[in-house]
Amino acid sequence: MTDKILMCRPDYYGIEYEINPWMNVKVQADHSLAVKQWKNLYDILKNDLNADIKLIEPKKDVPDLVFTANAAVMHENKAILSRFKHQQRQPEEKYFAGWFQQNGYEIITLMEDMNFEGAGDALYLGNSLYAGYVPRTGISSHLYISELLGIHVISLELISDTFYHLDTCFCPLKDDYLIYYPGAFDTYANKVIESNVPSEKRIIVNDEESSYFTCNAVNIGDAVVTNLTTKRFTKILEEKGFRHFQTDLSEFMKAGGAAKCLTLKI
Ligand code: ARG
Repeated sequence: MTDKILMCRPDYYGIEYEINPWMNVKVQADHSLAVKQWKNLYDILKNDLNADIKLIEPKKDVPDLVFTANAAVMHENKAILSRFKHQQRQPEEKYFAGWFQQNGYEIITLMEDMNFEGAGDALYLGNSLYAGYVPRTGISSHLYISELLGIHVISLELISDTFYHLDTCFCPLKDDYLIYYPGAFDTYANKVIESNVPSEKRIIVNDEESSYFTCNAVNIGDAVVTNLTTKRFTKILEEKGFRHFQTDLSEFMKAGGAAKCLTLKI
């Protein structure tokens, strides 16, 4: 079965505000380079890995719409839409809602006061949905989603503003492997991860790799796509039977994002 992925061309992408420590309006993304980097990622996913890529129309004044991971968390044919914490990203909600509606998905809208940032903060591993909280997503959304969908949700506290979404430090892979960065989680969350994921399935990135957003990876079959990272990481992935694709996403790092943030499996 081919993976279906939602992406958004970076036509209006730029650093227009600062809502995470990676963003600095004085360090602008090089627009033509960003367009090239996005296209390279798109080509790897589409041509090398045979993904079926769907596109949402880019819109002016919502530069972060490119980060489709934050549209929603998917469950079967349902899209549980995000409720962005920052007012700068809230206008994206209606565009994502419209896209899901037009494309035959059932949309679920959370209460207005419930912050939740979609697959940026909620990722399936095994039979559970692992969900990050504090920086962007409120923990009350976890229980709500668990009851709504009848699924087991495991809450993980994120302790660093640098890794403000779960997908910046945690990436489930095929066969229940997990790439993650322990430094982004509190002690209890680390214990939860260690007791749920067997040690031979855990791929731990080091401080250097975490700073290249190595955990922000797209997994399709046995392929793992990341921003440029270390040889050490490639070696570990290959030892576990994965193929590693690297592509430079420097211009998206300036907004606090990399490969996985630019995609949403739908
Ligand atoms: N500038 C965006 C923000 O701060 C980046 C989002 C990255 N998305 C993600 N799923 N990690 O909201």
